[in-house]
Amino acid sequence: MISNKAGLISIFAKIYLILILSIFSIIQFNITAASKPFKSKNGMVVSANKIASKVGVEILKAGGNAVDAAVAVGFALAVTYPYAGNIGGGGFMVIHLQEGNNTTIDFRERAPFTAYRDMYLDKYGNVIENMSLEGAASVGVPGSVSGLIYALERYGTMKLSKVIQPAIDLADNGWTLESQDAESFYKFLEVFSKYPSSLRIFTNNGVPYKEGDLFKQPELAWTLKQIRDRGLDGFYKGKVSDLFVQQMMDMGGFITHADLEKYEPVEREPIIGSYREYKIISMAPPSSGGIALIQLLNILENFNFEKDEWGSSQYLHRIVEAMKYVFVDRTYHLGDADFYPVPIDDLISKEYAKTIFERIKDNAVPSAEIFTGDSLRYYESTETTHYSVYDNLGNAVSVTTTLNSAFGSKVVVEGAGFLLNNEMNDFSEKPGVSNQFGLLGTDANAIEPGKRMLSSMTPTIVLKDNKPYLILGSPGGSMIITTVLQVLMNCIDFNMNIQEAVDMPRIHHQWMPDKIYFEKFAINKDAMENLVKMGYDFSDMNDRITTIGLVQGIMIDQNNKIIYGASDSRGNGSAEGF
Ligand code: DON
Repeated sequence: MISNKAGLISIFAKIYLILILSIFSIIQFNITAASKPFKSKNGMVVSANKIASKVGVEILKAGGNAVDAAVAVGFALAVTYPYAGNIGGGGFMVIHLQEGNNTTIDFRERAPFTAYRDMYLDKYGNVIENMSLEGAASVGVPGSVSGLIYALERYGTMKLSKVIQPAIDLADNGWTLESQDAESFYKFLEVFSKYPSSLRIFTNNGVPYKEGDLFKQPELAWTLKQIRDRGLDGFYKGKVSDLFVQQMMDMGGFITHADLEKYEPVEREPIIGSYREYKIISMAPPSSGGIALIQLLNILENFNFEKDEWGSSQYLHRIVEAMKYVFVDRTYHLGDADFYPVPIDDLISKEYAKTIFERIKDNAVPSAEIFTGDSLRYYESTETTHYSVYDNLGNAVSVTTTLNSAFGSKVVVEGAGFLLNNEMNDFSEKPGVSNQFGLLGTDANAIEPGKRMLSSMTPTIVLKDNKPYLILGSPGGSMIITTVLQVLMNCIDFNMNIQEAVDMPRIHHQWMPDKIYFEKFAINKDAMENLVKMGYDFSDMNDRITTIGLVQGIMIDQNNKIIYGASDSRGNGSAEGF
């Protein structure tokens, strides 16, 4: 009886959903009609923050290459996009050099040396709520400063003092808050108030900042000057590190001087795959992004998609089924490959993809028949940030960087003015328990001293005839992978321009929970009806999904030497070029 009633409710819920979506589908067409990318000839920078994009373009105009510009953007974002831009976090940089070679720089955070597998469990073996998510204990050893300096020294042409100066000036002189900046500070006021050093930075003497206020960060400027004048030692040793370690000791954190001094970025071979006639260059473990993206593309390459098929139930069914299989593999096989044997070659082989393709039939395979899992606790979707840069020599740089959650651990280092990440939550706290993105924990991603936590960040460069065609990436936790997939397919399979490709509504499935997450307008009435018949379930208002990803992308027309830039219309970023 109860289950009949539940069944009826769920049928009504689905009918309601179909009705709502049929209204959205009427206006769906108009979304893309106005989507035109920004065009330039000599260079392009696309980021989630207009000021930072402009900083990058100024560096290109001054003769810097794409790496110089990317490093300048990275430091600028730490000042003008504190939500996710950072020097207290980490990330990944994928580089294609004009000579044709590809490389990546891994500046992901690491677990402190005193970290251990069960560090977030109580004496009964239960996860201690919030411990890996907020406060000093959630902080991983930051890699951003080290990664940016490494990139500059190895592949840039300018001095650190030149590329970091715009960030210092912005922190010293201040910049004018836009409404979304003031709102984002306000939204986190309550949690900042637990941390006096953070409350002091993100309020104006205790009064919330408002649109139009000048936001100065003298302590952050001081820290950036230490880096400018002393390089790595300005951050990982000396006064800044003393303040950092003091903050850890005062608030129960794990990071010591030894952790900071021993942090090193790693230059890694990219994960390379192909999709139709395109070459895909993306990030290797400790990110799952490159492997998962290439697995998805390998599976989907077995289908042919007609141009008018976008958004159809058949198209959605195929990509969703592929997503389920790939996220199972992510859960069980992926972790930091320096610590865990990740079967990379098997996972990205075309033969393996073919076996998955052959299992995709006419109906949804319930995720429970693929494996069992846990539920998604998703609440925000854009707390990481991506930027893409292209210069007139043909160098391409794709960077995704993060503090993990919005404003990371919420802890600012007293006296040093920068926010610390809460990246430790990306580890598996306990097998079978999911993290904030609903991603299940398994052994592959268990905590070990010095290990890097598994990421979904997917900074990617797509080559056509060995020349850059697309540079793209996104925030969104687990949704990063599926976001990058859809934008890439929009360009390659559906022939969209980069702005359309970025702006089109998106869906997401991550195997567990067994439902399709979707943005408004992503699934029209017919498709929804068909997908319901095939056995799919959908996210609802409780999932509070409003947007999926925030892409900053570049498309290059190599024949006509035109660079197109697109900042996702879901946000307030900008494409700047000259
Ligand atoms: O590395 C990761 O996969 C996550 N820390 C990324 C976090 C993120 O994208 C936040 N935005 N939703």
